[in-house]
Amino acid sequence: MTTLTIRRPDDWHLHLRDGAMLQAVLPETARHFARAIIMPNLVPPVVTLDDAVAYRDRILAALPQGMTFEPLMTLYLTEGTDPTDVERAAASGLVKAVKLYPAGATTNSHSGVRDLTKVMAVLETMARIGLPLCTHGEVTDPEVDIFDREAVFIDTVLAPLRRRLPELRIVMEHITTEEGVAYAADGGENLAATITTHHMIINRNHILAGGIKPHYYCLPVAKREKHRLALRKAATSGSPRYFLGTDSAPHVDALKEHACGCAGCFTATNTLSLLAHVFEEEGALDRLEGFTSLHGPAFYRLPVNTATVALEKRAEPCVWPDKIVSGAGPVTVFQPGFPVHWHVLT
Ligand code: DOR
Ligand code: ZN
Repeated sequence: MTTLTIRRPDDWHLHLRDGAMLQAVLPETARHFARAIIMPNLVPPVVTLDDAVAYRDRILAALPQGMTFEPLMTLYLTEGTDPTDVERAAASGLVKAVKLYPAGATTNSHSGVRDLTKVMAVLETMARIGLPLCTHGEVTDPEVDIFDREAVFIDTVLAPLRRRLPELRIVMEHITTEEGVAYAADGGENLAATITTHHMIINRNHILAGGIKPHYYCLPVAKREKHRLALRKAATSGSPRYFLGTDSAPHVDALKEHACGCAGCFTATNTLSLLAHVFEEEGALDRLEGFTSLHGPAFYRLPVNTATVALEKRAEPCVWPDKIVSGAGPVTVFQPGFPVHWHVLT
């Protein structure tokens, strides 16, 4: 097969930031994607419905003329979040999920949740109205090895929460382990998981062997090879439990190439080509559309996109810019380290 037309994809986990960075990265996503779930970890975070409405307006204002894109907003869960505001946010139709960051787990997570019992009233409201909770599924206990933090989160936080509130609809975001794959597989209708493009391409050796590669560092950090293979198998399985959330997370190079570098891989520019490459390698090109364009809307109870996007496999490999230029500084585009021949026709 050398051409492929699929329904226009959606990105169910995306960081757009704000200001000059937003301006630079938004077209990279809007070029190929119809909608995206927008992460709320700005400084200060997007906590209330009013915050989300204002942020959505800034995103739409930054959209270049002639492009269409629908930001699906999320609220950042804090221990002070008001359940009635969450209910109003869902009713507005603009807010599609609430994001749980365990405090200290990742970039701009310090306003996140330390004690889940303090947000139970919010979670009960969400369970009642069917509003999904997106989880950054890592424990923050410094005693727990960083490569084990996802599996420990599943056992000690997620499983007890789901036993207590089985009606709560949960998205395990950016799963990186075979434990995550297995837990999502058995979770029933109220559970799904997103998988990033880069976690299907790199393992921890790519980050650390032969010199440290800061542009491959993200959170949850890529794990050993068997986990990468489990993620590829899950994504290409055709199961509706798994769908694309790129977690494309721009940081300026100065903060990535740093003694204490930021977490995040910027994949918006080339995600679709990379996915076609991965799905072809797995003999599953016919399942790409499910992963990018069908399973996500089904879980979020939204219509699928009617527009399409076409890809063509050409002899010459794709060439992407090394960097996106932003008013905040350059942002390095994720490079897979192998040639990719699936060009997106725009
Ligand atoms: O790598 C990451 N980058 N993981 C996250 O959870 C946050 C994100 C960011 O905001 O940069
Ligand atoms: Zn993220």
